[in-house]
Amino acid sequence: MEIKKVGVIGAGQMGAGIAQVCAAIGKEVLLCDMKEEFIQKGINTITMNLQKSVDKERINQDKMDSTLANVETTILNEDLHECDIIIEAIIENVDIKKSLFASLGEITKEDSILASNTSSIPISILAEASGRQTKVVGMHFMNPVPVMKLVEVIRAKTTCDETFDATFKLAEELGKTPVLVNDFPGFVSNRILLPMLNEAIFCVMEGVAEPEAIDTVMKLGMGHPMGPLRLADFIGLDTCLAIMQVLHRDMDDEKYRPCPLLIEMVNNGKLGNKTGEGFYKY
Ligand SMILES: NC(=O)c1ccc[n+]([C@@H]2O[C@H](COP(=O)([O-])OP(=O)(O)OC[C@H]3O[C@@H](n4cnc5c(N)ncnc54)[C@H](O)[C@@H]3O)[C@@H](O)[C@H]2O)c1
Repeated sequence: MEIKKVGVIGAGQMGAGIAQVCAAIGKEVLLCDMKEEFIQKGINTITMNLQKSVDKERINQDKMDSTLANVETTILNEDLHECDIIIEAIIENVDIKKSLFASLGEITKEDSILASNTSSIPISILAEASGRQTKVVGMHFMNPVPVMKLVEVIRAKTTCDETFDATFKLAEELGKTPVLVNDFPGFVSNRILLPMLNEAIFCVMEGVAEPEAIDTVMKLGMGHPMGPLRLADFIGLDTCLAIMQVLHRDMDDEKYRPCPLLIEMVNNGKLGNKTGEGFYKY
């Protein structure tokens, strides 16, 4: 199955990046969010990313213009009905994602692939909600999407070969390295990464060390390119908490208990880079 037209729902940090990389390889992209102002923010992010690449002479102005010209926008999910694949990148909330997948199952043409960029929610839950079980797959990009090579392609038990193969091929066309992962909460990436970030937050809460010191230990001692607290800010503390809650609930194991300091920071609106404050100020 050939994918020509890509719908992306959610124009936040991930959705904007996904729209950008798809447009850059010549796909027709329809970027959708709930309000014009959110879409405009996404378009501004794409424009800024591309401008940086032009400034660094990685791409020329024509490439920037043609990439932007491949992105159309809408605030109506119904406009996505002709897309060959729809990649969902909205807030990490299982009920909101389930209701979106239920409506996508009704709105989109029968052979559309419904992919989710969820960080943690089992794909089988979204597949069941859609009423289109064979067409649902996980397509988990890493942040920032234009830079990071990995895409976890998550195959639910009901995902058919055609859906999986077309999604895997799309990731390759994007210049990414797709990896097959089975359908477990948090997949591979966040099953391993998030408990480490959560533990770093426990270290802050218990006064083991200051955030800068914790990040320095992990960077210089373990060779991580970014410390866990700066990475948590970059991902978004709301997203980190949502992932820990999915792991805690679905794995039913206390080792995934979200750190109380993480919960408190999210309740106080300190979400990291996107709100200007998390473990650091931006
Ligand atoms: N942040 C990361 O590092 C990262 C990495 C991989 C995957 N993810 C996943 O990607 C998804 C998006 O994360 P993000 O960091 O881009 O979040 P974000 O907060 O930057 O953006 C979310 C966007 O979704 C929109 N939205 C929310 N509900 C919607 C709905 N019902 N219909 C249409 N649009 C809606 C919001 O307006 C917002 O623009 C989440 O599932 C997250 O877990 C995040």
